Amino acid sequence: MCGIIGYTGSKKSVPILIEGLRTLEYRGYDSAGVTVAEGGRLATVKSKGRLTDLEARLEKSAELLGNCGIGHTRWATHGEPSDTNSHPHATKNLALVHNGIIENYAEIEEMLKGAGYSFISETDTERAANLLDMFFCRSKDPLDAISHAIKVIRGSYAFGIIFKGFEDTIYAVRKDSPLIIAQNDEGGFIASDIPAILAHTNKYYRLDEGVIAKVGAKEISFFDEALAPVEQKLETIDWNVEQAQKGGYPHFMIKEINEEPEALKKTLEPRIRDGLPHFGIDALDGDLFASFSAIHIVACGTAMHAGLVGKAIIEKLARIPVNVEIASEFRYRDPILNKNDLVILLSQSGETADTLAALRHAKACGVYTLAIVNVIGSSVAREADSVLYTWAGPEIAVASTKAYSVQCALLYLLAVRMAMVDGKLTDGEAKAICESMLTDIPTSIEEALKLSDKICDIASKLVAAEHLFYIGRDIDYSIATEASLKLKEISYIHSEAYAAGELKHGTISLVTEGTPIVALTTVSKVCEKTVSGIREVKSRGAYVVSVCSSDLAGKYDIPCDEMLVIPQISELLAPFPAATVVQLLAYHVSALKGLDVDKPRNLAKSVTVE
Ligand code: F6R
Repeated sequence: MCGIIGYTGSKKSVPILIEGLRTLEYRGYDSAGVTVAEGGRLATVKSKGRLTDLEARLEKSAELLGNCGIGHTRWATHGEPSDTNSHPHATKNLALVHNGIIENYAEIEEMLKGAGYSFISETDTERAANLLDMFFCRSKDPLDAISHAIKVIRGSYAFGIIFKGFEDTIYAVRKDSPLIIAQNDEGGFIASDIPAILAHTNKYYRLDEGVIAKVGAKEISFFDEALAPVEQKLETIDWNVEQAQKGGYPHFMIKEINEEPEALKKTLEPRIRDGLPHFGIDALDGDLFASFSAIHIVACGTAMHAGLVGKAIIEKLARIPVNVEIASEFRYRDPILNKNDLVILLSQSGETADTLAALRHAKACGVYTLAIVNVIGSSVAREADSVLYTWAGPEIAVASTKAYSVQCALLYLLAVRMAMVDGKLTDGEAKAICESMLTDIPTSIEEALKLSDKICDIASKLVAAEHLFYIGRDIDYSIATEASLKLKEISYIHSEAYAAGELKHGTISLVTEGTPIVALTTVSKVCEKTVSGIREVKSRGAYVVSVCSSDLAGKYDIPCDEMLVIPQISELLAPFPAATVVQLLAYHVSALKGLDVDKPRNLAKSVTVE
């Protein structure tokens, strides 16, 4: 997804812009560019490809020494990745970087053509730049031009703009796309994401929708759409630069898997008081839990898979029916929502466009919404009726790992809390589960991490696979869905998750000599059944990797070629170390294949477009 950085101050801007864009590379991009104000002109250099391509181009062009500039990494939405389509987009009077999608760009183009404008790129952004230009020509006032333009524009945007004649100032405004503003002794910054400013300051303003920021080297001011001055809240980030870097690991993904025990503690500890779930820190009213007759968990990708784990555990412990929905389906299919339902939105970034739209739909239907989100102050967090932050720290690898584990953990805690309402769990039983969650989950994951070398050995036998299956029953099947997504997104091996009992209804015809099958067995009541399924594939020549709990490994003769016994933990909590094991497997396959583990092709960390 696109990234924005802007700087104005006492230093040369280009090195700051490039460094900021580098911290945003994890968002995924296909081109990059900068505009620097110097000598009364706006000099733009941009390039398709990686930041190194942009740097090479900057080296060749005349040195850009100006102190005010904006930079962008683009992930194509309108128009292919190309030099021309990349940002910034310049007009006679301004240069603009943009994250998001302008929905009515065709209408705007028509209007601008009538006013004599023409276009060189296929982008919606160039239309927005020219719209701003048109209004600026009328008033010669940047704030006036922005306030007029945002009245016309429909869609999502985070804009960073430099106007001619105002070359020491960056203007910024946003809707449905994040943007932060910051300042230190050396200047002012705008950025689409926190890591871009962490090297300079740990204080920032998260720009509210519709608020226009005027960022100077020494002064920042904010205005509402009527151009009246407004205040924005200064926030402090408790992530340091170190946390946003790889910390000695070869990839962010493996670093983040290793952070799971700590992330889980951070998420759970503040919410367990006197041994029981307590959401006081989140200002969640305890009575809330008594009021829901059905739950809808709505999310995308990995977060949706965490929802499947949530469904299994809420239905098991609290006996409340849970419906897990893909957000992009939910938002359009007119779901049946009753006033006593609860809609839970799960999202690491809190900016996923489909999840945000699903949230808005649920709210429009008058249903109570609860967001479980990792990024503080993100759009989903701000718009939901209540929010539980997962506090996993920044997740930089595109493939989500620790965020998934903490989402599952919060759903477990909610399940326990809901089960306490009408005595489905006694206080004693609830306390025992909470105690075990606090201590056994982190410990078992630490133990699972020690299996990394063995998992790497097994991974070496899978690197040549063209396709692969993950199978399991009950909650093991939920884990299998995520295991499969993880493998395919970073290793490019086609993989599918199957409920173990379903293979025989068609898919088993794909199993031939050497077909790899990863079989999960942590659920005692269905273990025997899964083992029968494993026998069926084994007898057709499958290469079986068994991921099983120690109790079940001792009790059943699981036919397999490799066995990964997950660390000892109660059956209820076994999904946590099992998830870590399958994440490690996906990681090692990708790393052994020499792939770009943290930035798999075609993927973006935060999918803020539909
Ligand atoms: C896969 C992955 C994605 C995200 C999905 C939702 O590893 O990370 O499937 O889970 O795009 O993103 P969030 O959680 O930010 O809403």
